[in-house]
Amino acid sequence: MGVGIDVENLNAWYGSTHTLQDISLNIPANHATALIGPSGCGKSTFVRCLNRMHETNPIARATGIVKMGDVDIYQDANPVEIRRRVGMVFQRPNPFPTMSIYDNVASGLKLNGFRNRAILDETVERSLRAAALWDEVKDDLKKKSGASLSGGQQQRMCIARALAVDPEVLLMDEPASALDPVSTSKIEDLIFELKRQYTIVIVTHNMQQAARVAENTGFFLNGKMVEFDSTHKIFTNPKDKRTEDYITGRFG
Ligand SMILES: Nc1ncnc2c1ncn2[C@@H]1O[C@H](COP(=O)(O)OP(=O)(O)O)[C@@H](O)[C@H]1O
Ligand SMILES: [Mg+2]
Repeated sequence: MGVGIDVENLNAWYGSTHTLQDISLNIPANHATALIGPSGCGKSTFVRCLNRMHETNPIARATGIVKMGDVDIYQDANPVEIRRRVGMVFQRPNPFPTMSIYDNVASGLKLNGFRNRAILDETVERSLRAAALWDEVKDDLKKKSGASLSGGQQQRMCIARALAVDPEVLLMDEPASALDPVSTSKIEDLIFELKRQYTIVIVTHNMQQAARVAENTGFFLNGKMVEFDSTHKIFTNPKDKRTEDYITGRFG
């Protein structure tokens, strides 16, 4: 099942540049939360702080509290375990190019020490089904490389790879912005299915997409979160003038 995330006073830096400033929000379990805002406002940095990827950059640091359920991810947990519990999908599908579809999806499990063939087979199938890709690839699992799939299929394979290690949260950083409209709508349909089981955080440049998939939306600007509310409220009656200017296309 998904787990909620409570963020309190999160700040993040690259070197001396203060990139995220005092971000606080509650991300509810088993819902999709969208993050919108102009390029460079800190959306990707924010999601990378939710699975401790931010700190893998040697010049980066973060302060504040991020709680996943009862676990304070910066105090009580090790980063490897957090990255298993909080999966991530990026803008560009990033398959391991020389690996088969099967090995791509199984890669995280193998890294975590799973060797049992039956368990791997079962998990690869379940993950590919959950990512709505199984029917398209089931006859080619070990024959085709992950990189031989179309862009939209690769992205769903990367979602399957993230799901295979049994996460509770799925972070999606502009997962459809490099895809064609048909693939984009498959990803959006998938988000509806996935949020029954996982907590979803999706960064998107596409405001219609946020409106379609997410119950709640946060608007980021210059490293701050200007407003966080139900998606409906953000798009119909935002409190802040800057949110209104952004959603009506006056900047960004
Ligand atoms: N690896 C990095 N090193 C230094 N600065 C970075 C790095 N990644 C992002 N930044 C800077 O942090 C700010 C926020 O970037 P980012 O989180 O990628 O924004 P967004 O995803 O909203 O476009 C930008 O000014 C960007 O240049
Ligand atoms: Mg980004």
